[in-house]
Amino acid sequence: MAVGIFDSGLGGLTVLDAVQQRLPDVPFVYLADSAHAPYGVRTADDIFDLTCAAVTRLFEAGCNLVILACNTASAAALRRMQESWIPGDKRVLGVFVPLIEAMTERQWGDNSPPREVGVKHVALFATPATVASRAFQRELAFRAIGVDVEAQACGGVVDAIEDGDMILAEALVRSHVDALRRKLPQPDAAILGCTHYPLMQDTFQDALGAEVRVFSQARLVADSLADYLDRHPTMLGAGEAGFLTTGDPRRVSDRATQFLRRRIVFDAA
Ligand code: DGL
Repeated sequence: MAVGIFDSGLGGLTVLDAVQQRLPDVPFVYLADSAHAPYGVRTADDIFDLTCAAVTRLFEAGCNLVILACNTASAAALRRMQESWIPGDKRVLGVFVPLIEAMTERQWGDNSPPREVGVKHVALFATPATVASRAFQRELAFRAIGVDVEAQACGGVVDAIEDGDMILAEALVRSHVDALRRKLPQPDAAILGCTHYPLMQDTFQDALGAEVRVFSQARLVADSLADYLDRHPTMLGAGEAGFLTTGDPRRVSDRATQFLRRRIVFDAA
């Protein structure tokens, strides 16, 4: 069985790229729910239903382990899925916790009480649904005290990236960073809390300034997946790798090829 990687669209490719480099022998099936992207402007119920449908498709493709390489789905749907929906022989993991563990200087699975950490003023950039869920602040509060988080909902950025309009995406990122700076003039760290945003990482870093440490998820998720598979080797097996989309496979393949700078061919999900 392959490992499933899910995103509403192309952002999860930033995670896929990192996990493939870290685990070159593991077959991955990537599913982009392009027909329904962006998720970030949808209600929590809608995101739950769409995420369950997509994960079901990955189970059907033979995956027993699925990574939600989508913060919006991780924030708005994962907890509910874990409580009431995921079959006992399957696992679904999100992308939030590895990031927060790294930011709060914790090893994987360290559940000791919250404590003071190095970062004090954190800027969170995410989709409107992720910001509204407050999932980031909730997970952070389990691990750290005295951290002030200012969240900026970055409307429009995912649509612009999905449309391949990088000029618009760059202008939007700069205006969202300006808006954040009006609320929190001097963040010491910034979280790119949407897997699409690493595609704009240079713009975020440039707009924030070199002194702001920018955390993005791809490598952190790759390290924690490697660790998980070490501890749960039965989740790792053989299987067919592939790329599936609910959208137009040709259009999605062209964009994916442009972003990853290697030929990617999507099939209809
Ligand atoms: N890449 C998704 C995330 O990490 C994008 C969400 C969307 O479709 O708006 O949140």
